[in-house]
Amino acid sequence: MTKVFAKLPRHIAFIIDGNGRWAKRRGLPRMFGHRAGIETLKENIVECRNLGIDVVSVFGFSTENWNRPQPELDGLFNLFEEFFKNETIDFMGLGIKVRIMGDYTKFPQHLVDNAKALIERTKNNDKMVLNMGINYGGHDDILHAVNNMIKDGVKDVDKATMEGYLYTSGLPAPDFVVRTSGELRISNFMLWQMAYSELYFPKTLWPDFHKKDLYKALKSYQKRNRRYGAIKEDKK
Ligand code: IPE
Ligand code: MG
Repeated sequence: MTKVFAKLPRHIAFIIDGNGRWAKRRGLPRMFGHRAGIETLKENIVECRNLGIDVVSVFGFSTENWNRPQPELDGLFNLFEEFFKNETIDFMGLGIKVRIMGDYTKFPQHLVDNAKALIERTKNNDKMVLNMGINYGGHDDILHAVNNMIKDGVKDVDKATMEGYLYTSGLPAPDFVVRTSGELRISNFMLWQMAYSELYFPKTLWPDFHKKDLYKALKSYQKRNRRYGAIKEDKK
């Protein structure tokens, strides 16, 4: 896939936030915001894929989101299931491989089955990876990795070993992390992986984050001078 602009992030991560406020501003129940948010998510996934971005990560549901009222949880589970099941994103036609980070087996069984089927069906696609954070937490990611290393009898851990045990094993670290709705927090997302990510916090509520907002975000990324602790200037 040829890239529409030069200097795109290889991996972009979205902390999607503001669905509830979007609905509230319209006098609608929160679920309307989540439903609109899923549509926006699909648009952004397809746009990123068409731009030639290699990996899109999404914080869809956190290890802390279980504290929401049960009717909202049930509504979210239904939306995820629809997302995994239906083909409004043409995962096969677009060559998108779906991965999940987080222990999604804690979700209702029918959702788990649909997610597994989609992962299996898309596993050989190679145009873009969609890495969905579902029951994901950065602390949980690291603990899960450490516990698996202990189980495997790993004695000596270096960066590569650790990264091989994280949910993101085999994926590059996110270059660019976008959190919508004006909240200036990371909220336990990809803690290890975000060590050198460029961050972007638009005020836009997630359901309103359309193509022009994505392009604006990418333009901001292109102006960043990534130094990774060194002092050299980026060659423009
Ligand atoms: C983000 O929107 C969606 C999920 C975390 C599932 P919120 O539901 O957090 O929306 P606000 O923050 O209440 O506006
Ligand atoms: Mg929120």
